[in-house]
Formats: sequence, structure tokens, C-alpha cells
Amino acid sequence: MTFEAIRVTLEEPIATIQIHRPKVLNALDRQTMDEIVAALERFESDDAVRVVILTGDERAFAAGADIHEFRGAGPVRMLLEYRFQQWARIRTFPKPLVAAVSGYCLGGGCELAMACDIILAAENARFGQPEVNLGLMPGAGGTQRLVRAVGKHRAMELILTGRPIPAQQAYEWGLVNRVVPTEMLMDEARALAREIAAKPPIAVRCAKEAIQMALEAPLSVGLEYERKLFYLLFATEDKEEGIEAFLAKRPPVFRGR
Ligand code: CAA
Repeated sequence: MTFEAIRVTLEEPIATIQIHRPKVLNALDRQTMDEIVAALERFESDDAVRVVILTGDERAFAAGADIHEFRGAGPVRMLLEYRFQQWARIRTFPKPLVAAVSGYCLGGGCELAMACDIILAAENARFGQPEVNLGLMPGAGGTQRLVRAVGKHRAMELILTGRPIPAQQAYEWGLVNRVVPTEMLMDEARALAREIAAKPPIAVRCAKEAIQMALEAPLSVGLEYERKLFYLLFATEDKEEGIEAFLAKRPPVFRGR
């Protein structure tokens, strides 16, 4: 599979998708989103891939949706052509997705980072939802995910002013997991991805699914969902291996079965 707007590297068990449209600060046009989703679909069915890193370059993770595509567009064209269902596909990707963010992370870029499971920010990262400056508002989850990440009042400030915040403030507000020196970003992302990739993949997958459910369901439903997945893991070989290895005081060897 060949891509133009992204670069894909595979160092088993870690796959990396790098958004590569440097001339427009990695703005997310339809082709870029199509390619990201196509790469994710390939990684979903590849057992050798356990964690995916999504990144940009030093100057920008992504400066938002590609504004050129909005010029002259009406609501019917947006409905028919603008493929928001791609975003749903990212939401249901079952393996851990780590966003490694450097530089501008704005609009759809910030929404894309928030659609990931973990966000590592370089010191130079800037997060924001500037759509209001275009006469728009976030359209790929920003109003919903930002509220859940930073709370209503901070989300209001970010979205209503359109003003970006630096990485350290994003960390203090709970938007990102941690801030790392810019030149260390990819090393840190790969180390974290490797740490997760060494865990039993079915347990990781179920835990991710249960955590996502915490954002969707009332507590009683979420707890029940968690319990069902917990029982399910008792059917895995990796659960036997994990328990036996612990009791034998040896490192476990997980096979994803
Ligand atoms: N779409 C298309 N092109 C973009 C872009 C975007 N989102 N962001 C930057 N570019 C282009 C610029 O037009 C410029 O192209 P030219 O060299 O051809 O002029 C190039 O990238 C470099 O950008 P700047 O010269 O503007 O760089 P800067 O360092 O002066 O400013 C910036 C950087 C503050 C990020 C500025 O580019 C900017 O404000 N970009 C737009 C950010 C934005 O509004 N994002 C939200 C988009 S809407 C959205 O995302 C909707 C949604 O929810 C799905």
C-alpha cells in the first residue's frame, strides 16, 4: 500500500504513522484522513502490530482540517463529501494509539490527538481549537472530548477564544499525559509503546475498551461491562501464563491468545 500524505514505519511490534504534509503544517485533508484510516485498518489485522504511534513533524502535529476544503463548501457538500465517519473508525481502533505531539496541534489536529488513547507532548507543542476564528466551531469531536479532558470552563475558554495553550498548560489542565523535551519526543513515545506492547494484547485491548466505555455509559452499565470483559480474560492463555509466571517468580511470555 502506498501513501502520499503519511509515512508509515513498522518496527515490530510498534507501527508509526507520521502525517507528512509539511507545506501546510500537516493540515488534515480528506486524503490524509483516508490514508490514516487505511493504515490503521492494516495494522488492526496485523497481529505483529501491538501499538500504533501517530505523529507529525517538529513544527506541527497537525494545524487542523485543511481549510482549502472548506472554501465555498455548503452543508450538503459537507454532508456528502466530508468523511466524518473516518473519525468514528479511529475511535473504534482496538489497539492502543499514542499521539506524539510536537508543534501546532490545532483544530482537527487537536481533535485527532484527543481521539488517541495517550498524548505525549513535546515542550514546543501548542494545543488549541481556533475554528471560531474561521466562523466555525470544532466539528470532529472537540466540543465533546475537550470537555471530558479539561472540564467545561477550560473547554469554553479554549473554544470560545480560539487561543492556543502551550504544552505545559495542556499538561496542567489534564489534556496530555506528560511533556518531554522536543528532541526526546519520539524516543519517549517508542519507549512507552514498547512498554505497553510487552503486555498481554487481549488484556490491553479489553482494558482500552472498558476505559472508553467509562466515557459513554452510566457507572452501573460501565461496571457491568468491565466485569464481563474481566471474566472474558479468564478464557485467555495469557492469563494462565501471567499467573503461572508470577507464582514461579519468572518473567511472563505473552502470546496474545
Ligand atoms: N489548512 C490549510 N493550510 C494551512 C492550515 C490549515 N489548517 N494551517 C496552515 N496552513 C498553511 C498556510 O496557509 C501556509 O501556506 P502558504 O505557505 O501556502 O501560505 C502554511 O501552512 C504555513 O502556515 P503559516 O504561514 O500560516 O505559518 P505560521 O507559522 O505563520 O502560522 C498557524 C501557523 C498559527 C498554525 C497558522 O497557519 C494557522 O492559524 N493555521 C490555521 C489553524 C486553524 O485555523 N485550524 C483549524 C482548521 S478548521 C478545523 O480543524 C475544523 C475541524 O474541527 C475538523
